[in-house]
Amino acid sequence: MKNLHIVGNWKMSLNKEDSIALANNIKSISKKEYLNIEVAPTSLYIDSIVKILKESDVNVISQNFDYKTLGSYTGGVCLDQLKEMGVTKTILGHSERRSKFNESDEQVNNKLETVLNSDLDVIFCFDSYEQIPFELIKNNLQDNDNLKLTLAYEPTWAIGTGETASIDHIEEIHTKVKNTLIDHSLENIPILYGGSVNPSNSKDILSSGNVDGVLVGGASTKIDQLLGIVNSI
Ligand code: PGA
Repeated sequence: MKNLHIVGNWKMSLNKEDSIALANNIKSISKKEYLNIEVAPTSLYIDSIVKILKESDVNVISQNFDYKTLGSYTGGVCLDQLKEMGVTKTILGHSERRSKFNESDEQVNNKLETVLNSDLDVIFCFDSYEQIPFELIKNNLQDNDNLKLTLAYEPTWAIGTGETASIDHIEEIHTKVKNTLIDHSLENIPILYGGSVNPSNSKDILSSGNVDGVLVGGASTKIDQLLGIVNSI
């Protein structure tokens, strides 16, 4: 069995009480050897969730970041603060950041360059092949053997809509991306799929060629559905 990633993106969907209750419920998930499980709470609660999941098999990651280091950026969150809280990875370029917070491709790519040159790892979301800055990645990724960078294909129309992309479509995009990664000698970069993943479709998606895991929104905020996805493979 190849290594697989299941990443839960809690977005801004849960209040503090529900986030803590969910973390307490997932604390006892014992992962299979080939599974890497991560959850991304809202940054306001990261500190509390890290404490709850500290001894567990589930890692806590960030949904986003603004800058690398401390500074005069009102309302911002920086990589150094995340690191200080024990977070080692962040999501970047989620389509909701691009559409609802007006983050442009240029801003997202600048942040990608920043995080690739930091101590944190990153999951870079894209909703089309053209959105992946292969050259920037090639020029800033020092070591292709670790999991510094993960890509996540998230077609916008499939996010939160219940309309999952077909396996054929997922394989087509993932294979195209994988082939370009191979051309750049970056073939170790995992590629996740995200968009209405749930316990009924996760097995087929996770078993597809060139799919290294799933990025899950809504279903990751409900313990029975998250467990259903984890136990589907
Ligand atoms: P969804 O969200 O699983 O609710 O469609 C996925 C995501 O936004 O990462």
